[in-house]
Order: sequence, then structure tokens, then C-alpha cells
Amino acid sequence: MLDNKVAVVTGSTRGIGEEVALTFAKNGANVVINYRSDSSKLKADNIVEQIEALGQKAIAIKANIADFNESKVLIDNTIAHFGKIDILVNNAGITRDTLLLRMTEEDFDQVIEVNLKGAFNCIKHAARPMLKSGGSIINMTSVVGISGNTGQVNYAASKAGLIGMTKTLAREFAKKNIRVNAIAPGFIESDMTSALSEQVVSQAIGNIPMNRLGSVKDVANVALFLASDLSTYVTGEVIRVDGGMAM
Ligand code: NAI
Repeated sequence: MLDNKVAVVTGSTRGIGEEVALTFAKNGANVVINYRSDSSKLKADNIVEQIEALGQKAIAIKANIADFNESKVLIDNTIAHFGKIDILVNNAGITRDTLLLRMTEEDFDQVIEVNLKGAFNCIKHAARPMLKSGGSIINMTSVVGISGNTGQVNYAASKAGLIGMTKTLAREFAKKNIRVNAIAPGFIESDMTSALSEQVVSQAIGNIPMNRLGSVKDVANVALFLASDLSTYVTGEVIRVDGGMAM
């Protein structure tokens, strides 16, 4: 489904990003693995090896996507290595959860910098090269960006901002053959959610009509659809992957 395509997946050494990268490679894409800190380099190299074993090409690029210049390095190195970029998945994200009354300015700024500004940074650098042959941009938002969530004013604001960014850029690039869509996962089993208590998890499952957490595969399959030619007339869309949670 993605033969000869080049995909950049930010924050792709674990969780949803890792699964998206591997799913794209299994479907014929060459993939750029992005990681933020040296402690993730081994994992990034390991994923590159897994992708090469699938017969595809991959490189790992270190870049903090919250930094405008580092995100430029990520995109410039992708072009230098592969000659183009067809698919950009803005997946990297962080949480700093607490109620507003306890939240520090730093908690707020850090989450906005990574989740919202980070996506802007990568799109800003990738858009011009993508104009040449079109492309697909996928922003990883969240159901809390649609419905809000107690204790996540920073995170929910960043994810709601991503939805506004998605729809705006879908309009700006519609005539240029660059599609811009968002995925809004619900409660997905990953390192991000494994830190939550059993009580929080069982409460969350109670609010999910399908009565289970989602898997990273559930999210990666929708990313594959949005990256591929199966979705050539889909832009500005936000697809929930949440077992019905935020209906
Ligand atoms: P995760 O915490 O397992 O993975 C996030 C990845 O992003 C990590 O590899 C991390 O190192 C990387 N990252 C963080 N800041 C970065 C930066 N400045 N530069 C480069 N990389 C950076 O999280 P998970 O669960 O895989 O989530 C992936 C995306 O999906 C995030 O945007 C998250 O907000 C979103 N999401 C996750 C949900 C879940 O239930 N797990 C639900 C809704 C949305």
C-alpha cells in the first residue's frame, strides 16, 4: 500500500509511533525513525534493523521536535538521505497531568511546545518539499482534544489545537495534493498509559462501549489508511480510534 513512499514518524522508538513505523514498512514504505535523547538511540537502531529485515530502508535521526532548528535537521536529513518525503506522522507527544490549581506554567508550556509547536515545526519544514509530489500529513491528537479531560488542561488544549491546525492546513494544501488529517486515539495500551493506576484504568474501561483498551495496532491501521491511496479524497478529517468512548 505504501510502495516507494518515504515516511517520517516522530517519536517512533516506542508505543504508537513504533507500531506506525513498522506497519508502514510492512506495507512497502521506507521510514525515518525519530528519537529525542541518546538513551533511545539503541532502540531506534533496533527498529531500523527490524525494518531492514523486512526489505525496506530506514534511518534513525535524533531530533527534539519541539525545537524549530532540530526539527529542520530531521526533515533536511530525510530529504538528503531519501530525496523526498511523502508521509509525515506527527506522533511525538508528552503529558504533564495535574489539576489547573496545581499546574505550573512550565507544565503548560512544555506540553504545548512538544505536542502543538512540535507538529507545526515539522510541517513547516516538510510542506515545501512535499509540494513537489503531494503527500499525507497525519497528526496524532486525542479524544481529550474533542471532549476535554479533568487534570489535562495543557494536554487537551494542545490536542484541540492540533485539530484546528489539521483543518486549517487541510484547507491551505487541498489544491496542492497534500492531505492533512488527524487521528484521535482514546485509551491505548502503551508506556504513556501504563503509568496510570489500576483504578483509573478500570474506570476508563467502564466508559468505553467496546469494553476494552485499544492497542497500538488499532491506531497504526488507521494511520496506514490515511497514509495510503485508500484515502485520496479524505482531508481535514479527525478519526477517533477509541472503541466508541467519545461518541
Ligand atoms: P509514548 O509516551 O509511549 O511515546 C511518545 C514518544 O514521543 C516517545 O518515544 C517519546 O520519546 C517521544 N517524544 C516525546 N517528546 C519528544 C520530542 N520533543 N521530540 C521527539 N520525540 C519526542 O506515547 P504513546 O502512547 O505511544 O502516544 C503517541 C501519541 O499518541 C502521543 O502524541 C499521544 O499524545 C497520543 N495519544 C496516546 C494515547 C494513549 O492512550 N496512549 C491516547 C491519545 C493520544
